[in-house]
Amino acid sequence: MNQRKNYVFSPPNVFDKLRSRAVYWNNYANNKLIPTLQDKQIDALKAIQENGFVVFENYLSGDQLERVQNEFHQALEEMKFSMPCLAQTRIDPERHSALIKNHMLGSISDLEKQGVTFNASEATSYNQVIRDFKPSTLTLPMLQYSGSYRRIWTDPFLLGIVARYLGMVPKLVEAYVRRNFPVPYKSMNHFWHRDLNNRFHLLKMFVFLSDCTLETGPHEYIKGSHRNFQEFNNQRYFEDAEVDSLYPEGDSRRALSVVKAGTVVIEDTRGVHRANLPTTGFRDLGFAVFMPLRPFYPHQNYKFPEDAYQSLSDFQKAFIPDSCVAAQ
Ligand SMILES: [Fe+2]
Repeated sequence: MNQRKNYVFSPPNVFDKLRSRAVYWNNYANNKLIPTLQDKQIDALKAIQENGFVVFENYLSGDQLERVQNEFHQALEEMKFSMPCLAQTRIDPERHSALIKNHMLGSISDLEKQGVTFNASEATSYNQVIRDFKPSTLTLPMLQYSGSYRRIWTDPFLLGIVARYLGMVPKLVEAYVRRNFPVPYKSMNHFWHRDLNNRFHLLKMFVFLSDCTLETGPHEYIKGSHRNFQEFNNQRYFEDAEVDSLYPEGDSRRALSVVKAGTVVIEDTRGVHRANLPTTGFRDLGFAVFMPLRPFYPHQNYKFPEDAYQSLSDFQKAFIPDSCVAAQ
């Protein structure tokens, strides 16, 4: 694999644990806000500890799913997705060969400079965007627009599991919904890897808004790899052959997220995983990233309306960084 940066993974030692306590003291101080867990939450917690993830099938009710799907479709029609955005039609295999080799790695402004993006002034409708630019991913900040999304992303049942697993009340640092399309070029997340948003404290939540099949790019995870660093040589990125030799295709320890719309998955993505390439259609998937932030960390990956924030419980409020709370 080209240009990949490797990184040595290991469990935290005593010094790391003390350092976390000192740096993220505010997240630990909020432990007093965590409600007592119900039996179902304890079962989920054990599943994450054991396997690295838990799957809640049909977590969203039929009505709830229909509402969030409708709101997402409307937001797509209203072109509320982030732009500039990568346009597959603007990638030239020769001129952008270095970028392709580097698996599209780069900030959006880097990509803009290379001329492979489209911006809001060029977008006239959803259908025109799809036709003219063939985006690989459209990202929408749905929590900003919709109470239905905020209710799922701040669901006390799910947040209780997240907090107990991490042993602190982390922050919801990223929250968005993506529509993914088939792509001709692989990006880094299509290779086996471990996430490094935070080295020791990280959980992600996935909310499936459409059915995820083998064709629409299921997520794949090696069970137990979130606490097994040595077997994978403490590294971050892996060749397919390395993983295949330990866990051959079809091995029951390779978990594929072939799931129905309405499913919610909570996962420790420090474990070894990859996104499979979609070959047809699209996949609509909501993302939440939980990890601690230092006090006063100037972080704003999304906007959470202030009136909606005020209606949350103290436990829910503790997840939303102050810098994300915005007057509407
Ligand atoms: Fe990842």
